Amino acid sequence: MIITIDGPAGAGKSTVAKSAAGKLGFEYLDTGAIYRAATLKVLSKGIGLDDKPAIAKLISKTKIRIAGARVFLDNADVTDKIRDPQITSHVFHLANFERIRKTVNVKEREFARGKNIVTEGRDQGSVVFKNADFKFYLDASPEERAKRRYAELVAKGGKTTLKKVLRDIMQRDQRDMSRDCSPLVIPEGAIVIDTTDLSILQVVNRIVRNCRA
Ligand code: DC
Repeated sequence: MIITIDGPAGAGKSTVAKSAAGKLGFEYLDTGAIYRAATLKVLSKGIGLDDKPAIAKLISKTKIRIAGARVFLDNADVTDKIRDPQITSHVFHLANFERIRKTVNVKEREFARGKNIVTEGRDQGSVVFKNADFKFYLDASPEERAKRRYAELVAKGGKTTLKKVLRDIMQRDQRDMSRDCSPLVIPEGAIVIDTTDLSILQVVNRIVRNCRA
């Protein structure tokens, strides 16, 4: 069984997907982590983010592995490194590169083979798993998403302002929704959940209830 969860940054996808997967006894796949790990590799090699041939060559030789909540790049654990703000601000280059997306899509489908999974990203229900058993699209107001991100960053000791986080979220929305390759859309047949006034548990329960029914 495949359950997809798509939506914009800060809508709560990761937390909700992880928790729903735990409750259902399914595996969890964070597809944004794959694009982040690929971006880390490109930046660490000093390759220009617009040098598509060099990026394609490099990524074809790169090993990215997702194991539960951990992410490995060429066998090194990069789970924390890929959350660096520098990666967040550059990842859209790789996410808007068709050849890279095709490679990542293959990886995602391979990961799902023979498993029950909850997978989250931007194109899981619309492109990669069009025939998923259940599709969800999580959304929340930009202000609420910015508040959540801000709280997360401050808890990790980061120094920023709510205003800056809101600006970044709106820029990421614009990039994710208007890019050429697999832009963020509500997948056909998806159940839309506005999480603005819901707790994580309420969202998780709604998803689990739908799937069990
Ligand atoms: O969810 P996230 O912030 O970790 O995603 C990182 C980037 O990857 C973000 O710019 C959107 C992009 N992404 C994507 O294009 N398709 C996916 N399936 C997952 C993420």
